[in-house]
Amino acid sequence: MHVAMIGSGYVGLVSGACFADFGHVVTCVDKDPAKIEALQNGRMPIFEPGLAELVAKNVREGRLAFATDLAGPVREADAVFIAVGTPSRRGDGHADLSYVYKAAEEIAGVMNGFTVVVTKSTVPVGTGDEVERIVRRTRPDADCAVVSNPEFLREGAAISDFKRPDRILIGTDDERAKRVMSELYRPLYLNQAPILVTSRRTAELTKYAANAFLALKVTFINEIADLCEAVGANVQEVARGIGLDNRIGSKFLHAGPGYGGSCFPKDTLALIKTAQESRASIRTVETVVAVNDERKRAMAAKVIAACGGDVNGKTVAVLGLTFKPNTDDMREAPSLAIIAALQEAGATVRAHDPEGMEQARAFLKDVTYTQTPYDCATGADALVIVTEWDAYRALDLDWIKDRLNAPVVVNLRNIYPPDDMHRRGFAYTSVGRPNGLAS
Ligand SMILES: NC(=O)c1ccc[n+]([C@@H]2O[C@H](COP(=O)([O-])OP(=O)(O)OC[C@H]3O[C@@H](n4cnc5c(N)ncnc54)[C@H](O)[C@@H]3O)[C@@H](O)[C@H]2O)c1
Repeated sequence: MHVAMIGSGYVGLVSGACFADFGHVVTCVDKDPAKIEALQNGRMPIFEPGLAELVAKNVREGRLAFATDLAGPVREADAVFIAVGTPSRRGDGHADLSYVYKAAEEIAGVMNGFTVVVTKSTVPVGTGDEVERIVRRTRPDADCAVVSNPEFLREGAAISDFKRPDRILIGTDDERAKRVMSELYRPLYLNQAPILVTSRRTAELTKYAANAFLALKVTFINEIADLCEAVGANVQEVARGIGLDNRIGSKFLHAGPGYGGSCFPKDTLALIKTAQESRASIRTVETVVAVNDERKRAMAAKVIAACGGDVNGKTVAVLGLTFKPNTDDMREAPSLAIIAALQEAGATVRAHDPEGMEQARAFLKDVTYTQTPYDCATGADALVIVTEWDAYRALDLDWIKDRLNAPVVVNLRNIYPPDDMHRRGFAYTSVGRPNGLAS
């Protein structure tokens, strides 16, 4: 099958490369000429483990190409995927659908023969109806079906998530479109990935419901962590104790600085908007958003408390800037709010991240970036671990303790045991553990 992928970001590029690897002929299109030029020269515009190799292999074997103009690829395509961004609209939290609608118009202008237009971007209920209206208005003669096929991949594990998904969700009642989608995903039927075919609106809502539920799980364990600190219990043991219950499950029960990233924050806000406009408000999700926002500020307060209540004039070393490990994505990363609050309180911030420093420069002002975590720690008044990259899991702690100005470590990801840290002589603060409080 011939596929045109409109938007070559985290989702479009990974999906396009994986479809090519299944044997389809794919062109990934993007408006950003720098992105396409990089890809045409074998350079990845994003960091995602395994992606460079997968792209190179499929380009070499003639199944994957890149373009800035969608006309040629769309004309040839059996399926055209819309994988453009749907950020929060400034001011009201609604999903900004302008990129989706613009792409739909451009696709409609050039499509040729029966074409399935597939929305892979995360879009509010009813967007498929509007995409269909745009296509029909632009090209009344068009032979096409508009399908919802939301993506559930996680950055950092995107390729294996795409190739071994928990499920594939296809929202359409068009029989011809079902056949095209089945053919596209056929290699995954062989792996027995469950395929759910629903109405388009149900598929659109399912994606938001999934993300809101995961955000709720994270926020729940974060509040339990606060309670653990207040009553002298251990949140990691509580999480294990509840997670072993199959009805609950152990994933997304790691207490930390609050969720961030390019999806949960905007998708929870967009779901709240949809619910309010439909007069069916979802108060649990409204609470999740409020609690999570407060949590990021509370994490900065935790650092300040660990530094004796004042960071004015002090240097704080931050390890980990991206919203989670194994990505360079800085969108809505908790580090942004934490660093801004520390700077407001008068701290000088120094930071290290294995992959995120280049992107971080666009988001953060007045931060000094260092080559290694050890340079970051040297001479600092406190060390704060914000993202649990593997590179931070086995640091030479004794070396660090000798180089820190004061042996203060705040670990917002619980990757070191409190007993061991105390034995080494650190004043150690972690999240939701009885020995994790500053001492
Ligand atoms: N990032 C994730 O982990 C993830 C996971 C599941 C779903 N999603 C959803 O997928 C969608 C895309 O997310 P992303 O993280 O890949 O975004 P992204 O910002 O990384 O990529 C979007 C790309 O689309 C391009 N673009 C915009 N309009 C275009 C047009 N008319 N023609 C061609 N290219 C155009 C942009 O230049 C950009 O490169 C969003 O709706 C998001 O919610 C993201």
